[in-house]
Amino acid sequence: MRHLISPLDLSVEELDYILCLGQEILKFPENFSHICEGKKLATLFYEPSTRTRLSFEAAMLNLGGKVLGFSSADSSSAAKGESVADTIRVISSYADICAMRHPKEGAPTVASMYSEIPVINAGDGGHNHPTQTLTDLLTIKTLMGRLDNITIGMCGDLKFGRTVHSLINAMVRYSNVRFVLISPQELKIPDYLRKEVLEQKNIEYIETNQLEQNMPNLDILYMTRVQRERFFNEEDYIRLKDSFLLDANKMKYAKKDMYVLHPLPRVNEISTEVDSDPRAVYFKQAKYGVYVRMALIMTLLGLDSEKLFFR
Ligand code: NCD
Repeated sequence: MRHLISPLDLSVEELDYILCLGQEILKFPENFSHICEGKKLATLFYEPSTRTRLSFEAAMLNLGGKVLGFSSADSSSAAKGESVADTIRVISSYADICAMRHPKEGAPTVASMYSEIPVINAGDGGHNHPTQTLTDLLTIKTLMGRLDNITIGMCGDLKFGRTVHSLINAMVRYSNVRFVLISPQELKIPDYLRKEVLEQKNIEYIETNQLEQNMPNLDILYMTRVQRERFFNEEDYIRLKDSFLLDANKMKYAKKDMYVLHPLPRVNEISTEVDSDPRAVYFKQAKYGVYVRMALIMTLLGLDSEKLFFR
């Protein structure tokens, strides 16, 4: 049985397969509407979510399956002190597959050790968010037609932003990808990513606190919010929260075919005036999240027509 805990759990071939399947579903959704009949997805969300939980649920419903779950730790037995290991043992007999979001790094890994069903990490603390990465990759691949030869700017909270960490880990596997890492000094990427991923693999990158002057070089701009819930004190959050604002004026410096992505939720970092710019694709990106999660559920359950992987 396979789980998805980190984006590196998938080989590049498996990733490409899931993205191709996602594109196929995007084109012909009706061909997939009965594939998961009789199957159940459990969503175990110990942390707030809108898109991730609802897109997982929409994905399973679109495939003809059913969903069950909880959307906060308070409404589950975690509030009584139950461990993740015990919870997943029980859920294994209620559902065929589960998606788990947890504030503690590593909680989905623990769950996968005790689970009898595939566990999908839907975000663990400030660590990883592999299905957001699948969403981001499907968006880039569909809009740009490629995942290599790209200069990607990542802007905002690169320290705590788990979507950034997972996306860097995934993108370094494609050739000729360059990173422009734009953040305040205090919110730079964690050391392990700089040393063990970017430097070890000889990836071209710069770290800067300048958004505007780097705009002309970017093919993708990946904006993120400052992760308030991961700060140790509110003062630091207040000081850093408005470090960057992407507005119509800054968009003037960008290439005509650059795309702006954002995992959402947006707080202040993108002005709503940018929404009508055809290069702003964050709402489209959220929509792609459903298709790629459909592809992932099918493959982890071994219900993909080709059955190439995960047997
Ligand atoms: C992200 C997350 O939860 O890490 N949201 C999401 O899943 N789309 C990004 C964020 O919360 O800032």
